[in-house]
Amino acid sequence: MRVALVTGGTAGIGAATAEALHTAGYRVAVNYGGNHVAAEAFTARTGIATFTWDVADAAACTFGVAQVEAALGPVDVLVNNAGITRDAMLHKMTTQQWHEVIGVNLGGCFNMCRAVIEGMRERRFGRVINMGSVNGLSGQIGQVNYAASKAGMIGFTKALALEGASRNITANVIAPGYTDTAMVSAVRPEVLEQILKTVPAGRLATPAEIARAVVFLAADDAGFITGITLSINGGKYLD
Ligand code: CAA
Repeated sequence: MRVALVTGGTAGIGAATAEALHTAGYRVAVNYGGNHVAAEAFTARTGIATFTWDVADAAACTFGVAQVEAALGPVDVLVNNAGITRDAMLHKMTTQQWHEVIGVNLGGCFNMCRAVIEGMRERRFGRVINMGSVNGLSGQIGQVNYAASKAGMIGFTKALALEGASRNITANVIAPGYTDTAMVSAVRPEVLEQILKTVPAGRLATPAEIARAVVFLAADDAGFITGITLSINGGKYLD
């Protein structure tokens, strides 16, 4: 049975992804940042094991992956889903807001991939799925930090795809549009209303609509799909 590790997985897209992989027959571990109450509720509801560490901390990622592998076995599928926003117009953005977002979203992607890649290379199998964003492709007002982090993940993923291809390790990005999660609910209602008008589908995605693409890319027989960015955005941005 394949082992999948989903970061930022106790809520939103991460939780839907963990549940979808669990249903598809994977042994699933979920990482989370610090909301123990949410993690306990998630495990109680799903039976999926949770582990806490900060993906922005490289040493914590190495330790966390070792804990997961001791409990469930070697990680075959890594879903880098953990992400944060610190939205502000550039002329108001602080250096801290910049570094926090780059550190978690892009730094976390590096730290987690680094922690699993040697094992994947040795075992000649791996599936890395990085959660990007439509805003990493289109840009978005108030998100130079977030858009840069998500665009950075695309370049990272393409390079990793090239490195991993001969070892049956694929690396792909899923770029969700605006999805019904706490992150999107945090946008001011009048701003979100304007954004929704730019979505041809006229609605938010559900987390499950994103999760099904993760299951697709994680599969053993998805081994020839690598280096792509799969947009799931209701037509908001067609690249
Ligand atoms: N589209 C068009 N115009 C926009 C806009 C948008 N999405 N967002 C802001 N604006 C405009 C405003 O109307 C305003 O215009 P004027 O200067 O002409 O009045 C200008 O940009 C400045 O905006 P605010 O007055 O809102 O500035 P603020 O400093 O009070 O707030 C902000 C800035 C917090 C960034 C706020 O604009 C905002 O929340 N914007 C949306 C950011 C966003 O979409 N975040 C996505 C979060 S969800 C996510 O990231 C998940 C994912 O992957 C999709």
